[in-house]
Amino acid sequence: MNTKVSLTGSYNHTDNLIILADKKVLSPTYQLLSETERQFLDQCIQKKVNTVFLAQANRTIIVQFLKQYADDSITREEARLAGNEVLTMIEHYHLECVCLLNHRPSNHVLDYLEGMLLGNYRFVKYFTNKADKQNHLKEIVLTKAFAAKKEIDRLLAVTEATCIARDLINEPQSYLSAAQMSIDIQKYGKEAGFEVEVFEEDKIRALKMGGIIAVNMGSVTPPRFNILEWKSPKATNKKPIILVGKGIVYDTGGLSLKPTANSMDRMKADMGGAATVVGTMVAVAKAKLPLHVIALIPSTDNRPGVNAYAPGDVITMYDGSTVEILNTDAEGRMVLADALHYAKKYDPELVIDFATLTGSAARAVGPEGVSYMGTASRDVMDRLKTSGYNVYERPVEFPLWREYGDQMKSNIADLKNLGGSSAGMATAGKFLEHFTDYPWVHFDIAGTAYITKANGYRTKEGTGVGVRLMFDFLKNY
Ligand code: BES
Ligand code: ZN
Ligand code: ZN
Repeated sequence: MNTKVSLTGSYNHTDNLIILADKKVLSPTYQLLSETERQFLDQCIQKKVNTVFLAQANRTIIVQFLKQYADDSITREEARLAGNEVLTMIEHYHLECVCLLNHRPSNHVLDYLEGMLLGNYRFVKYFTNKADKQNHLKEIVLTKAFAAKKEIDRLLAVTEATCIARDLINEPQSYLSAAQMSIDIQKYGKEAGFEVEVFEEDKIRALKMGGIIAVNMGSVTPPRFNILEWKSPKATNKKPIILVGKGIVYDTGGLSLKPTANSMDRMKADMGGAATVVGTMVAVAKAKLPLHVIALIPSTDNRPGVNAYAPGDVITMYDGSTVEILNTDAEGRMVLADALHYAKKYDPELVIDFATLTGSAARAVGPEGVSYMGTASRDVMDRLKTSGYNVYERPVEFPLWREYGDQMKSNIADLKNLGGSSAGMATAGKFLEHFTDYPWVHFDIAGTAYITKANGYRTKEGTGVGVRLMFDFLKNY
């Protein structure tokens, strides 16, 4: 994250201020203003202006009012968007440090801060002149009265983790091979305090993880299987919660090559599910949630090559099932299947996977939401939905109807990796379900993990979608 947040007892009279003000109780705000400034503020309120800029002799004051809606999910999102929008003003005046004051009763101030922190993210690693590409704002100062310390700490954990997920997605495969992703995950594990174990190619072969090996066959770099673990001594769950993330560091489609025109442009983001899961582990460990959470990330690139797996091949998976390959571009389900089978050895309470799995999901929901489906209890599905609305990563549930499974039957093997021409997201879900025997949820984030234009505080390229949703779900677990 490129914004430092510091907590102080009091601020200096020369600090730039952003005041989250309350139209009904203006006295604390008035105290900081001259008579003419108060009059100006009153005029702005009458005109329903929500962001008021005041230049004082040695500092800038921005007074911000937040809009209130009947639906709290929308009020919170509007607060985040307002936090992102104020960045334009901050950048315009080259402010490097602002102090955020809370003159409001509600906790929407944390959402506002979240919008500022996430919107100020930039991925500048590959620019020669990084400083020029970075935003001016470097630091946000909060006074102790801003919000409860625990809530601030949790917000910082999850925003930092979202930015880590974005970094991972934004890294091109020229840097982020499967092996390099494991190195990065180990670094994040050390910093945040979770354990990381990495299976290299020999171990993956010894275990006969056939799905991962098949997808890796066209590659010139080895696969990895990553196991991340956070076990709080105060864990309230006896059986672990397991997260699984699709870690395809680049998806060419393999021998079923994607059409070259544009369709590969965003395929460095095909490890978006892995990024979600790594980010979630960072947030959970940093916030020291009293839980036992494990994350599994099968990882490789998917390429054509002399030895690449081919349509018509029959692959024996890690669980012993056989799969007839009809399209090598349906590779995500192959690597996820092995991870979902591996999850069984933990006797998990709940398994949730995240994957940029199908173009069908992207078309069905668009970047406005995420699709999910699963065999977990109604209660779990509903709580995930609530968390999604809390953080405005809204999940849309799709069914796992029996008939979708029929489409995955092969003439010569237990399964095939391709369904019919419609409902591609659900047939993919049915394929994954075959490898589960526990309460399970599958999120297809193909439409949301990566965007080409900024959407409010969701900066362009990797969005880190899913990290905030999972953290909200787990902190309320
Ligand atoms: N990685 C893609 C899915 C994807 C598409 C992610 C667009 C992000 C944006 C996945 O591996 C894939 O190629 N899926 C195919 C499956 C098909 C061959 C059954 C798809 O959705 O077209
Ligand atoms: Zn693919
Ligand atoms: Zn893919």
